Amino acid sequence: MCGIFAYINYLEPKTRKEILQFLISGLQRLEYRGYDSAGIAFDNAEGKTEIIRQSGKVKVLENEIWSRDDLSVDQSLDIHVAIAHTRWATHGAPSPINSHPQRSDEKQEFVVIHNGIVTNYKDIKQFLTKKGLTFESETDTEIIAKLIKHIHDNHPDLTFRELVEQVALQLEGAFALVFKSILYPGQCVATRRGSPLLVGIKTKSSLSSDHIPVLFSSKDLKRQKDITPTGLIGTKIQRSDSTTEFTPLSDHAEVEYFYASDASAFIEHTNRVIFLEDDDVAAIEDGRLTIHRVRRDFDDKSPLTREIITLKLEIQAIMKGNFSSFMQKEIFEQPESVFNTMRGRVNFENETVILGGIKDYIPEIKRCRRLILIGCGTSYHSAIATRTILEELTELPVMVELASDFLDNERPIYRDDVCFFISQSGETADTLMALKYCKQRGALIVGITNTVGSSICRESHCGVHVNAGPEIGVASTKAYTSQFISLVMFALVLSEDRISMRPRRTEIIQGLKMLPDQINSVLKLDDQVKAIAEELYTKGSIMIMGRGYNHATCLEGALKIKELTYIPSEGVLAGELKHGPLALVDEAMPVIMIVTRDKVYTKCMNAVQQVTARGGRPIVICEENDNETPTMAYKHLKIPHVVDCLQGILTVIPLQLLSYHIAVLRGCNVDCPRNLAKSVTTE
Ligand code: AGP
Repeated sequence: MCGIFAYINYLEPKTRKEILQFLISGLQRLEYRGYDSAGIAFDNAEGKTEIIRQSGKVKVLENEIWSRDDLSVDQSLDIHVAIAHTRWATHGAPSPINSHPQRSDEKQEFVVIHNGIVTNYKDIKQFLTKKGLTFESETDTEIIAKLIKHIHDNHPDLTFRELVEQVALQLEGAFALVFKSILYPGQCVATRRGSPLLVGIKTKSSLSSDHIPVLFSSKDLKRQKDITPTGLIGTKIQRSDSTTEFTPLSDHAEVEYFYASDASAFIEHTNRVIFLEDDDVAAIEDGRLTIHRVRRDFDDKSPLTREIITLKLEIQAIMKGNFSSFMQKEIFEQPESVFNTMRGRVNFENETVILGGIKDYIPEIKRCRRLILIGCGTSYHSAIATRTILEELTELPVMVELASDFLDNERPIYRDDVCFFISQSGETADTLMALKYCKQRGALIVGITNTVGSSICRESHCGVHVNAGPEIGVASTKAYTSQFISLVMFALVLSEDRISMRPRRTEIIQGLKMLPDQINSVLKLDDQVKAIAEELYTKGSIMIMGRGYNHATCLEGALKIKELTYIPSEGVLAGELKHGPLALVDEAMPVIMIVTRDKVYTKCMNAVQQVTARGGRPIVICEENDNETPTMAYKHLKIPHVVDCLQGILTVIPLQLLSYHIAVLRGCNVDCPRNLAKSVTTE
């Protein structure tokens, strides 16, 4: 995710300093969405567009801004447009040149800020390159700035808003965009598809209405067969048929507008908000806001409007949404983050998987002698969780190693090994050291990270960005499920050409398709989990048992509980019960057991019987259609059935929720557990 913010003042004089302060505070409110680089664009004293961009947190950008003595910060501006962006890198490492705003050309005729991923940017980049354009960044966003200029140069009669509509028609993927152009002074146009974008309105005069009509562009602007990036030029562009560009603001009223990814960026200025919908284009010109629809995909002629809502939220609450902590927010983001991990990669119709970051290395990987998965903590658990399916689909031996132990023992590594380094932060010292150890020995290095431009990312020969969005909570949750899915996607890629594996691949791919909805179902168990937490939060220890595909789940669940609640917790392989852990079981020991209908179901049921025979009162996580296991349990939580190798995505969520609720009940700091850090950058 990235943070988008724009501030437009009309007949409401502001000094350049005030405007810059608005931008900085807006970005600070959005910093949780991404913080590896940031940038702003505004009019300088010469009336040209000034761009200031910096790697690092917003503070670094702020220091750069105030260090400049050429910005005429005291100049008053009656009408002005400024845009700002804080980045979570997906394409191109964090750097000033890869930061937003991205520009159309040296003269910076158009600048744009973007949140999302344009999945067809390479096609458009190729088209524009053939037209003689050159590129300066590694981002997908730059093609947007170049495309709007290209369309303008070929259709100078189009309005700014019509240009943006044309650009939106060419893009695929997810985006929220805000444009500024020196060619259209005082105007600002925004659009969205798949990424959030809000409009804040601040005006002294009362609004004539709480609704803004949505104006429809002519059907001819729909994406026709010949309007593709290659066919774009030379096609007659029909003008929008929006005749009455009604706006609730009286003409020439003093007004201030804000565009933002979420209302936290401007809630201190106004609580009058419009939530734009996908394919809306919001245009501000001469202080008037109009909203248009790029595509009319339905025959319904009834007028559409967008309501101006009065938010009653406090700033702090909005930054975490309605959640009390980033970790809770990130647990509940998993339907979206899981979907984003698969977006543009898994085609559920033709059942193919494409991982652009490794596709050039697939032949070499297929010739390797073994796969070695290396990580720490939760990342290590995602390796445990996917080892079996990787072995099944790749038919290669798969080893799983804790980075620290791997280095202590100096494991033998060979040139025909493929080593995966799994890391949310991409900066974990143990994992990075292990990477360098393997690289020195000639192995192929594959990075599985959630942070583009991180050290592990840069040191790898190839890799997969898990696209979970920034994970702020120290305890990893959504990164785990996204790492898990990324490794499953890798296994599917490796078995693409295996006829014998088609049925199994189909089962898994269709299982992946159902996951976002199924995760939503599991999240609805939150109240039941909270009730269980109220029984457990005073306990001295907690055991979690599982086996097969849920061995990783019990390890990960135990890690969540110990790092968030400080209660000693052990993840026990159920098959090991009789070899020692059973001695811990009595009526006082809290035992959580994962029992799902797969090939080890009967063995798990035996484990439940062993626990209950010693007076244990197991809390069982089982499947919705399982009516037998609950009869043997003290309490149970029922989750949807999914193909065996994906069960771990669903079974871990009740344990994430449980650790969260116990931590809250114990008064622990959920986002910053004691003694821990989000990224362990020391050995
Ligand atoms: C997990 O909740 C912990 N925060 C910790 O175990 C973490 O998974 C581990 O430090 C590895 O971090 P990484 O994924 O950023 O490499």
